[in-house]
Amino acid sequence: MPELQTPIEELCKKLEQCGQGHLAQYLRGVTPQSARENLASQIEAIDLDELNDLIERYITNPAATPPPASIEPAPYYALDGTGPTGGWDAAQYRNAGERLIREGKVACFTVAGGQGSRLGYEGPKGCYPTSCVKDKPLFQLFAESIRANEIKHDCEIPWYIMTSPLNHDATVSFFEAHDCFGLKRDQIMFFNQGVMPSLDAKSGEMLMSDPMHLATNPDGHGGSFKALHVSGALGDMQARGIEHVSYFQVDNPHARVVDQVFLGLHATAPDSSGEFSSKMVAKASWDEKVGVFCSVDGRTEIIEYSDLDESLAKRTEAGGRLSFNAGSIAIHAISVAFIDRIINDKSAALPYHRAIKKVPYFDLSTGRPVEPSSNNAVKLEKFVFDGIPIAGRSIVVETDRVEEFAPVKNATGTDSIVSSKQLQSQRAARWLEANGTQVPWNQDGSVNATIEISPLTATCADELAGKELPVSIEPGSIVVL
Ligand code: UTP
Repeated sequence: MPELQTPIEELCKKLEQCGQGHLAQYLRGVTPQSARENLASQIEAIDLDELNDLIERYITNPAATPPPASIEPAPYYALDGTGPTGGWDAAQYRNAGERLIREGKVACFTVAGGQGSRLGYEGPKGCYPTSCVKDKPLFQLFAESIRANEIKHDCEIPWYIMTSPLNHDATVSFFEAHDCFGLKRDQIMFFNQGVMPSLDAKSGEMLMSDPMHLATNPDGHGGSFKALHVSGALGDMQARGIEHVSYFQVDNPHARVVDQVFLGLHATAPDSSGEFSSKMVAKASWDEKVGVFCSVDGRTEIIEYSDLDESLAKRTEAGGRLSFNAGSIAIHAISVAFIDRIINDKSAALPYHRAIKKVPYFDLSTGRPVEPSSNNAVKLEKFVFDGIPIAGRSIVVETDRVEEFAPVKNATGTDSIVSSKQLQSQRAARWLEANGTQVPWNQDGSVNATIEISPLTATCADELAGKELPVSIEPGSIVVL
């Protein structure tokens, strides 16, 4: 816990001014002094100046957002070579992206501060055993991909990893215990994201998780912009001459850590401001639970699946394809200049989103812990993709679902470790087949084998060319390359 900067009485006055008199009164009575200071420094880490406004806007008087005048599907650079401005040449953009990577202007940026509550895994999600045969953790898969790209492009690729106070120390120790999976320690920067207080859903009062701790939640992946700045990571990027970050989430082992074509489009396409670009995959069904890229009153943005009107979600084009087809997979390219703008320009601040959740708490009035039976608290989070409409001209690029999306979010079912492992084998099988190996496909398109290809062996099908590969794969077999 950082050292306390504000005198406790001053902090108590501030608390009283933002509707937190209950906490001021409690804080004054905490003994011994060291415990009081510890709690005070947790409170000091919260931005009390914005709290009144947030309680008003998200709890006591939430205003409905006026519906936009128009919502259209966002145009995108499609896999079939069509694009918003006509045909596009992947080779041209591959060269542009390759140049940026080789010149050391691209860093990787992983958001790994989430609570991972749906997966129900104790440690940081990035430590979760994920690859289909060797059970390599997510962090290792990314580290090996980064290393493979460094070798390919003859450069160093710095890696920025956002953690949260819940998992920071465990994340750093994990990397250090594994020798950073072959990367250099000083090319990886770990930094903590901020937290928001969990607020009582009726009164807006800050909750305590136990007698000594505030109940808090990480401030969302959108908290990354502020955290990059506060931690010094942004300054580090600027000092290293980084111009763009390749952003991906910790839970997608198929994310391409740096994608030349995507980065080339982002930085040089005529309709891109080079600030904030995104990847999409064609939606699996109209009701798939992914955000959708839309053009809202002329600006690109992501509308969450729950907010997209059902009639729009179901609308189809002449050939039967969904009109609102562009599902987000949370992979972006973002310029360092844009991150700097978001931080310094108050009018470009990202909004909060509120979620009502069940949060156990310590009741200050009774001195007892409470296990609520229904939702009792508001959690406020920022979403990184709210940066898209703030960017000048933001482009969207289609990618293949199996190639780039195998998320591990849930303990079972959709987007679980089981479905991710199936997709990992399926992708590996595709790569092998593209290089002449006979593959035992099942009727449903899955593969009847478990296949793991290390990122150090290949990060795409082309990189298997010239390697010693099996002529065929026996049904039910396990293959590691
Ligand atoms: P999710 O929205 O899937 O949330 O995060 P989560 O916290 O990981 O999992 P659940 O909802 O509790 O089950 C998407 C990505 O954003 C990161 C996560 O680590 C993941 O990579 N994230 C999310 C943060 O870095 N910070 C946050 O505050 C929230």
